[in-house]
Formats: sequence, C-alpha cells, structure tokens
Amino acid sequence: MNTQEKHKRLRSAFGQFATGITVITTRDGSGKPVGITANSFASVSLEPALVSWCIDKNATRYAEFAEAEYFTISILNSEQRTVSDLFAMRSWDSSLFDEVEWFEGHNTVPQLPGVLARFHCKTKNLYEGGDHTIIVGLVEDFDADPQSPLVFFQGDYLTVHGK
Ligand SMILES: Cc1cc2nc3c(=O)[nH]c(=O)nc-3n(C[C@H](O)[C@H](O)[C@H](O)COP(=O)(O)O)c2cc1C
Repeated sequence: MNTQEKHKRLRSAFGQFATGITVITTRDGSGKPVGITANSFASVSLEPALVSWCIDKNATRYAEFAEAEYFTISILNSEQRTVSDLFAMRSWDSSLFDEVEWFEGHNTVPQLPGVLARFHCKTKNLYEGGDHTIIVGLVEDFDADPQSPLVFFQGDYLTVHGK
C-alpha cells in the first residue's frame, strides 16, 4: 500500500469518531481577525482549566495561531454549517469575516454569536505532533448556552437533536 492509500484509510478510520465542530479565532500581528474550523478540540484539565487542539503545520493560518497569545474556541450549533464551511476555506483571507456576524470580545479576539460554548484562552504550550502542532490553552474565561450541536462524522456533517 502506498502512502497516499494509507493516509486515505487512516483518515477514514479517524473519521469513525464523531466530534463536534469548533471555530477557533484570534488576531494576527497586525490586528486582523483570523479563524479556522477545527474538530481536534479536546478538554484536557479542570485545575488548571486547560483545552487543546491541533493545527496542521501546512495550514495557511499556521503562523497566526502558533504565535497568538490569545484565542477563543467556539463550539458550533446545528444551524452553523455555513460558518464551518467558511472558516474551512482554503487560502485564508481576513475578508471572510465580512461574510459572518461577529463581535469583539475577551482580549479583542473576534467572537461568533449563537454558539454552544466559548473558551477564551491564553496560549500555554505548543507541542510537537507530527504534521500537526498541539496547542494547549489556559481557559481564562468561558460561557455556555446548551443547544443542538453541529457534528462531524465520517467526513460529513450530522445534526443531532439534543438539549
Ligand atoms: C470539520 C473540519 C474539521 C477540521 N479540523 C481541523 C483541525 O482540527 N486542525 C486543522 O489544522 N485543520 C482542520 N480543518 C481544516 C481547516 O479548517 C482548513 O480547511 C484548512 O486549514 C484550509 O486549508 P489552507 O490551510 O490550505 O488554507 C478542518 C476542516 C473541517 C471541515
């Protein structure tokens, strides 16, 4: 089996794990808003409050997140597929924020309205993770508004009716 086929099979096996979908937002060095769709979010620790996510080292937004002091992780609701698609678009451009409602929040980080929960983080550690970097954030503040989540499973969106 060649590497490409192995990656395809591995991606498909990873995709058997249903996840929520988050958008992670920050500001770049010049203050422009930056966002990326990510399903690698995980809760890590209660005391201190820590969360993690992984960013592809080849992502066009890599430097912005690797260098960010603050970022917010927002968990998308079942109606926010277009928001997920928008922040998953290739070749990042800050003007994409013109296509979505947002406001400025904790530490001037851009915030999305209507989400299930937000974790306002200060970057604590970056860890080597193969072709990704594992980013651990210290949760400085958070809020939650339980509702139906947007779910990612087997490479596609699912809507789960809960809460
Ligand atoms: C549901 C979903 C989950 C994703 N999760 C991650 C992730 O955890 N980490 C990551 O670096 N990229 C993730 N991506 C990919 C980025 O959102 C984005 O599509 C990619 O970085 C765009 O390519 P570019 O960097 O070439 O512009 C995810 C995309 C989707 C649709």
